[in-house]
Amino acid sequence: MAARKLLLLPGDGIGPEVMAEVKKLVVWFNARGAGFECEEDLVGGAAHDHHGKAISEAAMKKAHEADAVIFAAVGGPKWDNVHYDVRPEAGLLRLRKDLGLFANLRPAICYPALADASSLKRELVDGLDILIVRELTGGVYFGEPKSISDLGDGQKRAIDTQIYDTFEIERIARVAFDLARTRGKRVTSMEKRNVMKTGVLWHEVVNHVHRREYADVALAHMLADAGGMQLVREPKQFDVIVTDNLFGDLLSDVAAMLTGSLGMLPSASLGAPDARTGKRKALYEPVHGSAPDIAGKGVANPIAMIASFAMMLRYSFAMVEDATLVEQAIAAVLDKGLRSADIWTTGTQKIGTIEMGNAILAELARLAG
Ligand code: IPM
Ligand code: MN
Repeated sequence: MAARKLLLLPGDGIGPEVMAEVKKLVVWFNARGAGFECEEDLVGGAAHDHHGKAISEAAMKKAHEADAVIFAAVGGPKWDNVHYDVRPEAGLLRLRKDLGLFANLRPAICYPALADASSLKRELVDGLDILIVRELTGGVYFGEPKSISDLGDGQKRAIDTQIYDTFEIERIARVAFDLARTRGKRVTSMEKRNVMKTGVLWHEVVNHVHRREYADVALAHMLADAGGMQLVREPKQFDVIVTDNLFGDLLSDVAAMLTGSLGMLPSASLGAPDARTGKRKALYEPVHGSAPDIAGKGVANPIAMIASFAMMLRYSFAMVEDATLVEQAIAAVLDKGLRSADIWTTGTQKIGTIEMGNAILAELARLAG
C-alpha cells in the first residue's frame, strides 16, 4: 500500500497541545498498518517568529505534496501588531487559497451526553446533526481591491470586496447537494439577496443547479440574518446549510456553540477531485482558535482536533469504519462523564488535555476489540 502522507501544522496557542493527542492516534493507527507518514512544520505566529512570515515556501511545498494537512490553530496577542500581510491568519488563508480548498465542511453534532452543556435548552439541541458547507476560497476574504487608503484630513477609507463567479457558487452548491443525498436530503441556502448582488447571483445559481441536477433534494432559501436567528431558535430544522465564506464563518461559530462548546467542532476543507487521480487536496482543522488564554495549561479540549482527524480518515482515505470508531470513542468518553474544562458541568469529572486524549485512545482500543 502506498504511504499516506500527512503534514502536521500545530501552529500557536493550544495548537501544539491538541496536536499532540492526534499524534497518539497516528501511532495507534500505524500499529494497525495504516501507513501514515508524518511531516511537521510551522505555521502562524510560530512561523512568523522563525521565518518572518506566516508560512514558509518549504511548508507550502510539503502541503502541496501531502495527501492531507492536519492544522491546529494560529494567532494570539503576541502578534497583534505584526504587519497585516504576515499576520498568523495569513498562513491559513494561503493554505486554503493555494491548495484550492473551496469546500469547508463544518458538522455541528450535539453528543447526547453534552446536551446540558449547550447554552440552549436540552430539547432544542439533543440529537442535533447539521452540516454547514461554507465556501472557503472566495467572497470578501479574497476579493480585490482590499485596502485602506488615506483621504487626508484625518480620514481614511477601508475597502473589502465581495466577489462571486457562477462557477464558484455551482461547485459549492454541488458539494452541499451531494452531501445532503447521504443524509437528510435537505439543503438550506443562506445569503443576503435583499442587499447584496452576490446574494442575488448566489440564490439564482443555487436554484439552477438544484433544478438541473438535484431535484430529489429539498431546497430552501433563507436570508443569512434570519438563518442565524433560526439556528438559535430551532436548530434541528436544518440538515445541510450552504453559504458563502463570511456568512459561513459567522454561522458556524453560532452552530458550534449549540453543541456545547467551540472545543467540540471539527472541520474539513476540500479541493476539487484531481482529474487524473480523483484525489482531493484536503486540510482538517478544529473550528476553535488558538485560545491563548488557556495555552500551555494542559486544559484545552482536544476533541475538535481528534474529530477533525476522524474526518480525515473518512474524506481523504475512505477509512469510514475507522472514522466512525474514533467518533464512537469520543461519545463513549463523554458518556462516562469525563469532561475537559470547557464542557464541564456539575456531576461530571474534569480532566486535562492529555487525560482526554488517553481516554479516547483507551475507548478506541476497546471498541476495536
Ligand atoms: C475560521 C477562522 C478563520 C476564518 C480565521 C482564523 C482566519 O475564524 O476558520 O473560522 O475567519 O476563516
Ligand atoms: Mn471562524
